[in-house]
Amino acid sequence: MKKFLIAGNWKMNKLTSEAVAFGEDMKGRKFENAKDVAILAPFTQLAALGAALEGSGIGFGAQNVHFEQSGAYTGEISVPMLKEIGVNYCIIGHSERREYFAETDETVNKKLKVLIDADITPILCVGESLEVREGKEEQTFVASQLYADFEGIPAAQAKKIVIAYEPIWAIGTGKTATPDQAEEMCAFIRGVVGGLYDNETADEVLILYGGSMKASNAADLLAKPDINGGLIGGASLKADDFASIINSANELSK
Ligand code: PGA
Repeated sequence: MKKFLIAGNWKMNKLTSEAVAFGEDMKGRKFENAKDVAILAPFTQLAALGAALEGSGIGFGAQNVHFEQSGAYTGEISVPMLKEIGVNYCIIGHSERREYFAETDETVNKKLKVLIDADITPILCVGESLEVREGKEEQTFVASQLYADFEGIPAAQAKKIVIAYEPIWAIGTGKTATPDQAEEMCAFIRGVVGGLYDNETADEVLILYGGSMKASNAADLLAKPDINGGLIGGASLKADDFASIINSANELSK
């Protein structure tokens, strides 16, 4: 049976009061597959969101973290700080962080290692720009991200990392990759993981698609064999839209 994770990436949206209302709404819906759902919220909302979700089975987490445990890093947040709040997940290497905040494969690799050590599940984002896709270099590009991001991480730890394939040209643009395009890349990514490690690791690792996933296209994307779920931006901000995607995954897992 294929495993799913439906993860909402709120980016820099919502106030704490809104996050709490959303969390309570989600809890009230009593999803059968609540354990396959996560909300990735801004740091200031995490404690209150976690409290609102308590007992629901729904996971929650951050969108970034620093790789040092503490120190003179003004404005940063460490893994022990997240751990204290009880987060289950953390997005790493989102293309917006790579583009606007100088995230590199080297810092991504360091962050993955400290998160796994702390038993927080990283959601590692990879994906190519429109320029790279037009040059038909998307597989080479994504493979090189994966080689660098997984460097020095043993198989037992690698299988705990969730990978999100997010083509940059599809993020927030309304331009979704077709289910076939998304499946092709997710299958390719699974193959790269198999090559880096072994078939068991490749089979177990969760690979999500992200980029304009919404209620109307989720079922077709989620039905693909190598797509284990979605990292959902815009459509995760509205409870009904997000719930509809969660229910699509639930239907497919029956
Ligand atoms: P989107 O964002 O669903 O709004 O395209 C996805 C993401 O960037 O994680």
